[in-house]
Amino acid sequence: MDYSSKPLAATPPMGWNSWNMFGSNIDEALIRETADAIVSSGLKDCGYEYIVIDDCWSQKDRRDAHGDLMPDPTKFPSGMKALADYVHSRGLKIGIYSDAAELTCAGYIGSYGFEERDAQLWASWGMDFLKYDYCYAPSDRESAIERYDRMGAALQKTGREFLYSLCEWGGRSPHLWGRKVGGQMWRVSRDVLDRWEDIEMGMDIAADLHDYSGPGGWNDLDMLVVGLNGSGQIAGEGLSFAEYQTHISMWCMACSPLMIGCDVRKLDRETAALLMNREVIAVNQDVLGRPAQRSIQSGQCEIWKKLLGDGTVAVALVNRGLSDCDIILKSSDIGLPDKPKLARNLWLQQDIADFTIELTQHVRSHETILLKVEGANPLPS
Ligand code: GLA
Repeated sequence: MDYSSKPLAATPPMGWNSWNMFGSNIDEALIRETADAIVSSGLKDCGYEYIVIDDCWSQKDRRDAHGDLMPDPTKFPSGMKALADYVHSRGLKIGIYSDAAELTCAGYIGSYGFEERDAQLWASWGMDFLKYDYCYAPSDRESAIERYDRMGAALQKTGREFLYSLCEWGGRSPHLWGRKVGGQMWRVSRDVLDRWEDIEMGMDIAADLHDYSGPGGWNDLDMLVVGLNGSGQIAGEGLSFAEYQTHISMWCMACSPLMIGCDVRKLDRETAALLMNREVIAVNQDVLGRPAQRSIQSGQCEIWKKLLGDGTVAVALVNRGLSDCDIILKSSDIGLPDKPKLARNLWLQQDIADFTIELTQHVRSHETILLKVEGANPLPS
């Protein structure tokens, strides 16, 4: 895909972030190797673009004589400019992290009071993205808006294009003000750990907030846990294949940013298949940018629908229960008339059935079947 002419975050941002797998254990070799792997694995061609260095990149407790943040010389001996140049040379973009208080979540120096200085420094290095966290900052909404606005203005003032990622975990309703402070994405939940209940948490939050996300500003359900399999530095025992498939399916349906959290230098076949199914990614990256709505909740079974720019409808049949079930999809559940339609299974990349009124699918425990339904225009809602 050629994104060179795309406006900033016209579709949900895609990339990789160091935190879930590596925590503080980051260095320039890891970032370079990750950039190489994103290119050689085919992830870049699927749209994964930003490589984001999360917390713990700087010297922990001091700025230099001018007041500038300093990269940790052991982790990043060649400096951040050289690293950004390398990432750019691979056709990718690079991101950095800070916090709207005196300290970051891991206790490193934050940017409060140094917004313009820090933004200028990141711009001089060639950074393209800032994730801005909220540990140690005041809990009220007004302070959050003020602090995020200060950094938003500072980034703007640099004249460099930054994708601005807000991370206050949803408690102060950033979906209502994230755009106003210059944000292109805002976290809507606490950290998603590598466990099934957190995927369900993300889905339930997405069901409530679908009206507040779209081109240029997205609800962020947090980084992906796919591929960690319990091995990351964040907690959690890992998910089954079906559960990881539900995770990707629903992050795509919700138009969440897709930020990979695993070690892409060692992608196993299952993880690669989950991260690089182009028909599934196309649901996330659809031009309309309309997040899915949960249409039906019946016991442990759910039906979600997402309108796509080509007039078709993406449908997720989700089984949250512990046993397999049959889910009956009725045309009316997804706002389609009782006319002949074609259902394509996007994970299998196969047309599976023609139907007019209803379609029954067997869905395994914690699995999601993702369909694209075409051939009948949606009824006006
Ligand atoms: C918070 C954020 C995480 C990560 C860590 C880093 O918990 O929500 O995504 O950035 O801080 O310390």
